[in-house]
Amino acid sequence: MGERTLATRREAMANVLILGANGQLARNTTRVFLRDTDARLTLYLRQAKRLPNPDPSRVRSVEGDVLDRKTLEAAMAGQDVVYANLAGDMKKQAENSVAAMLATGLRRLIFISSMGIYGEVPGERYRSVLDPYRDCAAVIEASDLDYTIIRPGWFTRDEKVSYQITQKGEPFKGHDVSLNSLSDLIVKLVLTPGMESRHSLGVSAR
Ligand SMILES: NC(=O)c1ccc[n+]([C@@H]2O[C@H](COP(=O)([O-])OP(=O)(O)OC[C@H]3O[C@@H](n4cnc5c(N)ncnc54)[C@H](OP(=O)(O)O)[C@@H]3O)[C@@H](O)[C@H]2O)c1
Repeated sequence: MGERTLATRREAMANVLILGANGQLARNTTRVFLRDTDARLTLYLRQAKRLPNPDPSRVRSVEGDVLDRKTLEAAMAGQDVVYANLAGDMKKQAENSVAAMLATGLRRLIFISSMGIYGEVPGERYRSVLDPYRDCAAVIEASDLDYTIIRPGWFTRDEKVSYQITQKGEPFKGHDVSLNSLSDLIVKLVLTPGMESRHSLGVSAR
């Protein structure tokens, strides 16, 4: 990363709400946020005691289920960006997240879905296994939020940050992507107003 980029990142004191903060990708991204930025993080997760607070001066934890509107809306107070890293009933989770954002006046949402939801991976037919990922993306795309949907390939633990992006409507390239690459992209999206707004991004190793 160039010095200018780092300086720009450090100037932006974003308040970021991370939903599903105990997820594998969310934990990796939390580490990158703390290492590379001055963002203040709210880690929203079920059973908060599972995740020790990595830096109490910048991080707080909220125990909650995304389907619990009251707790979710309370956690949204004072935030700038929501980064949703969820799994399971993702349609309901997306509906609840969007409704809570609208109710609390939040606009910017980064949402992790999956490659394959538009049939965009050459030679692959994922069908019903991807229904939750397809459905949550449809909910978000139908909202008027300032969203970016991420469609990652299979996660790898390759240390390298090296990735390529394909837009909705283009064939997905490759099959996998490192957690570090995804975290790099998520941090940039969170800290760069307007970046890839209302886009759905396929992300794979370069
Ligand atoms: N692994 C891959 O190669 C790959 C590829 C493409 C896409 N993806 C998708 O990318 C997303 C992120 O991946 P990941 O590995 O970070 O997922 P993960 O480790 O399964 O994390 C998802 C998190 O969502 C939380 N969650 C589920 N329902 C919730 C609710 N109602 N309220 C609050 N939190 C809830 C889970 O909490 P609990 O810990 O409490 O259950 C979990 O910590 C997932 O949807 C995954 O399927 C993965």
